[in-house]
Amino acid sequence: MNAPEPIAIIRQHLIDPEVCIRCNTCEETCPVDAITHDSRNYVVKADVCNACGACISPCPTGSIDHWHLVPKASAYTIEEQLGWDELPPPQDLDTGVLDQAASDNAAEAAGEEVQVNAATSTTSPTPPWSAAHPYVNLYTLKNPITATVAGNYRLTDPSVESDIHHIVLDFGTQVFPILEGQSIGIIPPGTDANGKPHYLRMYSVASPRSGEREGYNNLSLTVKRVVEDHEGRPTVGVASNYLCDLPKGATVQVTGPFGVNYLMPNHAGSNLLMICTGTGSAPMRAMTEHRRRLESTAGKVGGKLMLFFGARNAQELPYFGPLLKLPEHFIDKHFAFSRVDGQPKTYVQDKIRAAGAKVAELLRGDTYIYICGLKGMEMGVMDALREVCAAEGLDWTALLDRMVREGRFHVETY
Ligand code: A2P
Repeated sequence: MNAPEPIAIIRQHLIDPEVCIRCNTCEETCPVDAITHDSRNYVVKADVCNACGACISPCPTGSIDHWHLVPKASAYTIEEQLGWDELPPPQDLDTGVLDQAASDNAAEAAGEEVQVNAATSTTSPTPPWSAAHPYVNLYTLKNPITATVAGNYRLTDPSVESDIHHIVLDFGTQVFPILEGQSIGIIPPGTDANGKPHYLRMYSVASPRSGEREGYNNLSLTVKRVVEDHEGRPTVGVASNYLCDLPKGATVQVTGPFGVNYLMPNHAGSNLLMICTGTGSAPMRAMTEHRRRLESTAGKVGGKLMLFFGARNAQELPYFGPLLKLPEHFIDKHFAFSRVDGQPKTYVQDKIRAAGAKVAELLRGDTYIYICGLKGMEMGVMDALREVCAAEGLDWTALLDRMVREGRFHVETY
């Protein structure tokens, strides 16, 4: 009797739908466009993925790092993966021959270097060397934690259109450690148009590690009520409207924490260059407040803080009042307003150019850059930083490459 014909087996790259937080980092990072998504799942095209691993380390949850041995001829299709609520169990394969090229690449995946390319999203695949240890994935879609709303306040002036809220969530005696720059997932109650539970939505925390109220087991979020999509068409943001309408005392299902790289340095003398628009100010508030608390108790521990913050006008800039109160010697603030009657439209990148000499001075030192906000600003900010460097005799390309490698350049846009 002849031995059974061996079947070709591949190590198929899969994303765990239960842990994935839909941050789009993998899709943006993938150099061969092997990752795609629908309204629920992020999935990998088996015939396009070359297992280069560029997407592995930027993923904030580790949901990206799943490799199943499957017969090449019956690799999971995109359609199958889009229908999953959880990963299928590993297959029992005992007569296969591993496709060696795919296997070798997959084995090296975790150590792959991320290429620096200013035309696409560029961000450090590692945290600052002195960042604190982040906890991630303590609570998942299947195992969320219940938080209680301790406060819900409108931040924007009642006279303006933007409805941005400061929402405080309390965890009582439950464990929920979180660092500045990390995010949490919110699970809106109810089901979507297909009768499936709503997917979680991600929010960056706006409070420091010691709590929104120091010593309390709580955190805060900066949430803008979504009433239109990116193209300006009317829409109702499920999670943002749910959160903005929550009364004090309501309970919320939370997952997380998430994020292992977008973290702040803890060593003395490290400078923070923070660039944000709108609710992208959340991580900047968290980091600034952590430094402020440290300095108010331990004296001068950090380096310089410089903030570029863009909003339509002062009335729509979250935390404008409290920010104004922070002294100049603690933080150098630059506000960019785009819709003020009688004034030219100004974006953060214009303010960066205007403060070019000071920005370059900071870039020459032990500086960590954080960018957060609208996707559209990313390119403009990169161009402004390049121009500032050129004018001040700095090689931006080399500097950016070094900062990315050293965990000193962090971008989160949406
Ligand atoms: P604009 O008035 O042109 O929309 P939002 O209020 O929508 O969250 O936006 C926050 C700020 O970011 C606004 O001032 C907005 O200006 C600005 N903005 C929009 N697009 C860009 C961009 N490409 N680069 C920098 N800032 C931008």
